[in-house]
Amino acid sequence: MKRALLFVMILMGAIDSMAKNYTLSTPNNTLIIEAVEGKAPMFRYYGSKATLDEAESVGKALQYEAFHAFGNRTDIPFAALVKFQDGDNAVNLVVESVEQSKEGHISTLCITLKDTLHPFRLKLRYAAFDDCDIMKFSTEYINDGKKPIVLQKYMSASLPVISKNCTLLSLYGNTKNESNEQFERLGYGTKLLTTQQGNRTSYDIHASFMLSLEGEMNEQCGNVIAGSLLWGGNFDIEFINSPFKRLPTLIQAGISPLASDYTLNPKASLTTPEFVLTHSNRGKGEASRTLHYWARHHQVLDGTKLREVLLNSWEGVHFDTTQANMESMAADIAELGGEMFVMDDGWFGNKYPRNNDKTSLGDWEVCREKLPGGIGSLVKMVHDKGIKFGIWIEPEMVNIESELYEKHPDWVLRHPSIEPQPGRGGGQLLLDMTNPQVQDFVFGVVDKLMTEHPDIDYIKWDNNMSMHNASSQYLPLSRQSNLSVDFNLALIKVLKRIRAAHPDVIIQLCASGGTRLNYVYMPYFQEVWASDMTDPLHRLKLQWGALDFYPSNILAAHVCSHNNKYTQRHSPLKFRFDVASMCRLGVEMVPATFTPTERAFAKRAIAEYKKIRPTVQQGDMYKLISPFDDNGEYAALMYVDSDKSKAVTMIYRLLYTHDMPHRIIRMQGLDPNRQYRIREVAPEMENEKLAIDGKIVSGRLLMEEGVVIPELIRRIKGNRPINDLRESNDYRSVVLELVAE
Ligand code: DGJ
Repeated sequence: MKRALLFVMILMGAIDSMAKNYTLSTPNNTLIIEAVEGKAPMFRYYGSKATLDEAESVGKALQYEAFHAFGNRTDIPFAALVKFQDGDNAVNLVVESVEQSKEGHISTLCITLKDTLHPFRLKLRYAAFDDCDIMKFSTEYINDGKKPIVLQKYMSASLPVISKNCTLLSLYGNTKNESNEQFERLGYGTKLLTTQQGNRTSYDIHASFMLSLEGEMNEQCGNVIAGSLLWGGNFDIEFINSPFKRLPTLIQAGISPLASDYTLNPKASLTTPEFVLTHSNRGKGEASRTLHYWARHHQVLDGTKLREVLLNSWEGVHFDTTQANMESMAADIAELGGEMFVMDDGWFGNKYPRNNDKTSLGDWEVCREKLPGGIGSLVKMVHDKGIKFGIWIEPEMVNIESELYEKHPDWVLRHPSIEPQPGRGGGQLLLDMTNPQVQDFVFGVVDKLMTEHPDIDYIKWDNNMSMHNASSQYLPLSRQSNLSVDFNLALIKVLKRIRAAHPDVIIQLCASGGTRLNYVYMPYFQEVWASDMTDPLHRLKLQWGALDFYPSNILAAHVCSHNNKYTQRHSPLKFRFDVASMCRLGVEMVPATFTPTERAFAKRAIAEYKKIRPTVQQGDMYKLISPFDDNGEYAALMYVDSDKSKAVTMIYRLLYTHDMPHRIIRMQGLDPNRQYRIREVAPEMENEKLAIDGKIVSGRLLMEEGVVIPELIRRIKGNRPINDLRESNDYRSVVLELVAE
């Protein structure tokens, strides 16, 4: 619901010719932009809370064009390039008006620039939250003329920073290996984070970064800027570090213009994706916590609600989604204390039953052979067990071998004269979302499912193909290069429509795992499937990276079977549970394969997770030891409730070496003046207590002296049978709950 507009101040043509500085503030950050009518707007300051006077006194104020468009001063990097019908591509943008407004938690500054040469305007929008240190930058390109214009570069944001000593953190990966952290020193020249996947923004490189302004990045100290572009398509984030050493380092973020000249019709406008940023002077950790808070409270659907423990059928039975398999898995997860059962891929298609990944996408009718009772009876069967029901779909796709494709071959992205390049399974194609009929169809997949079965609780929305074929059969030839932008805008339009009709159903965003990790989607989805990689060692590392930018409650993390499908690595069940418990816990295996000991442990671990869930899913995250540090022997992190009354510390030993040295973990985020009672969560053996279990220790001591790891994770002696909860000295873990007295 829109909250009342508190005030709107419009200064149309009322700007005096004196420099006028506009300030936007969050609790601890300040942005100052200078706007003088008839002149280019100037960027003065962004950083820790300060007045312009203070920023000038400490040498942190700038006089740098706030958003430079190609036209003159071509020695300055430009963020916009516009081509007009007569071939002219120079603009001269000057301030026309300034508006300031406040709505709910957000104050906005909008500076409208007009081109003195053509009927073209550009709005610069800056927004600041009053409850967290988040600002948002975006732009709007407006064609006021009578002829189309072509946007050849149309960034969302331009941010100059004073530092020539920056370390950049970005995330890279691919399917089953997502969200790897990469740190690098910014040399002179331009560093570009970009993707050209079209519709899967984090398939290779994420549209999020952190920049330490003082050399090496530190979790707890130093000035760090974190930024994230809210866009599901191709993006460019440029870091332009000029060898002219007195020039600032310039960050530009926006849609990638590569092969995407955007034609803007007369009287039309294009609003570019929002670029979200925060400035922390307490290192990278504080930047993550700010993003997490903002995400939960302002960006993610139901961001402050607790998420259920579920079992997903995929790794357990793949396409073998028979009635019997579904029943037995649902019964098992209910008995183990889980709260939801999700039926994954394989449940649909009759003319072409979905028995593998080569057929059936598009034919969203239940397969009568596999599930003779239909979805209705399945939902009832699951609900009768006292748990919720979820179902998998991949509505943006079609298989060539499907009834849908037989009817609508013109609905797919492809060039009419080139054989389409298929995706997964060798026969998958992407539907053309720019086509309004396709938009109706995709909306209809969810709408029909939810209308016929309103008691479905959860949908897993998958996407297993990038934009391999970048031609639309719907758009005219003259608009082909609008495809990548219009496709992604149309998808958001469909998601909005789905949410207007079905606001309550939980929808998980999946894209061959976590290849669509971007905040642009999160107003429509409650969570993401962070990766198909369920091996806990691998998973811990990719969760570690994802947690830099995304909060734990939106990252689904599932326990795999003993012998991981992708790595063939054996790991004890306790470790698998403890790694998945870092985020939203789930199970991705057939529980019927558990030994009796494992089954009893799984039940205990789920019950224990539910107790610590509010802290894990909603607490502030503090990273204590990175799995990438030292020899990768340990990892540790903790979550602390906002009132510091409870905390959960998770400690992992990833690699055992003989005679390992003592390793001290100093906790963070606790109240130094309170005493915390410590309890081990889900110990392997109920009768073996750690020395620390039941002890009361002050927050001060836990943060100043810390705890010593070898005392917490003991070495096991003697060989253990496979499937023993402690079968090796590697992959051992301890979870501690701390409750203030
Ligand atoms: C890819 C997803 O990441 C998996 O979890 C699973 O849903 C499969 N698709 C199903 O085809």
